[in-house]
Amino acid sequence: MILGGTREARELADIASGERGFDIVSSLAGRVREPILPAGEVRIGGFGGVDGLRKWLTGNGIDAVVDATHPFAGGMTANAAAAAKSLGLPVLHVRRPGWIEQPGDRWTRVPFLVVAAETIAGLGDRVFLTVGRQGVAAFAESGQWFLIRAIDPPEDAVPARHEVLLARGPFTVEDEIALLTDRRIDVLVTKDSGGPLTEAKLTAARTLGLPVVIVDRPQLPEGAVQVETVAAAWEWLRARGT
Ligand SMILES: NC(=O)c1ccc[n+]([C@@H]2O[C@H](COP(=O)([O-])OP(=O)(O)OC[C@H]3O[C@@H](n4cnc5c(N)ncnc54)[C@H](OP(=O)(O)O)[C@@H]3O)[C@@H](O)[C@H]2O)c1
Repeated sequence: MILGGTREARELADIASGERGFDIVSSLAGRVREPILPAGEVRIGGFGGVDGLRKWLTGNGIDAVVDATHPFAGGMTANAAAAAKSLGLPVLHVRRPGWIEQPGDRWTRVPFLVVAAETIAGLGDRVFLTVGRQGVAAFAESGQWFLIRAIDPPEDAVPARHEVLLARGPFTVEDEIALLTDRRIDVLVTKDSGGPLTEAKLTAARTLGLPVVIVDRPQLPEGAVQVETVAAAWEWLRARGT
């Protein structure tokens, strides 16, 4: 089973679904209204915690688990590690590398969204918030104006002064510079998702000399086996094929 919701998960499912000896099922949380579906069998929705996942893995005869969820899907990752461990199943975590600060960047790294909300206080009034719709509530009490970009509209509390921009990456540097300029953005807030699809905003902020508040990733569970690329994940999976 591939736990998905990412480009890496889709790419791995695309590769493995077509291969003899592999029976792949991808799992999505069901958060995005119109998800981009991977090739092959797909199931959608939570399992009901570790116990639910254990039952599902057993009931569906799963031999190996690839956790290719987003680096910030820490709950699902922890559940996958715990369920697989208790059943003695091999589990691999696919984590693309985080973004690395470049010369000219003005980054402040913070451990959590709530700390990001505190940190922006001294950095300007107009904030570009790209933390996913589920992360917006952490800024609900903030007095600044926010440009909130997300794939679907936020459902929880939002800051009083804001504009919602619905969009799905990839984005170009030119478009990001135009957006930051047009909305007169003072500061960008993002999570360290990594990967090329949404990196352009960081280049744009560097180009315009804007500060960036970047939220660090949650840690992987202790002892987790981890790879950074789809190619490495496929190698791992192939070693387990019949
Ligand atoms: N967090 C992000 O920034 C982000 C960004 C892009 C994509 N995504 C994708 O969106 C999904 C949800 O992310 P999240 O941060 O809300 O996760 P999360 O907080 O780690 O997970 C919360 C719960 O959602 C369910 N869930 C999460 N991923 C699932 C999956 N692939 N298949 C089935 N159930 C899943 C599980 O419910 P049960 O306990 O009921 O099993 C899990 O305990 C993930 O698949 C992730 O790859 C997340």
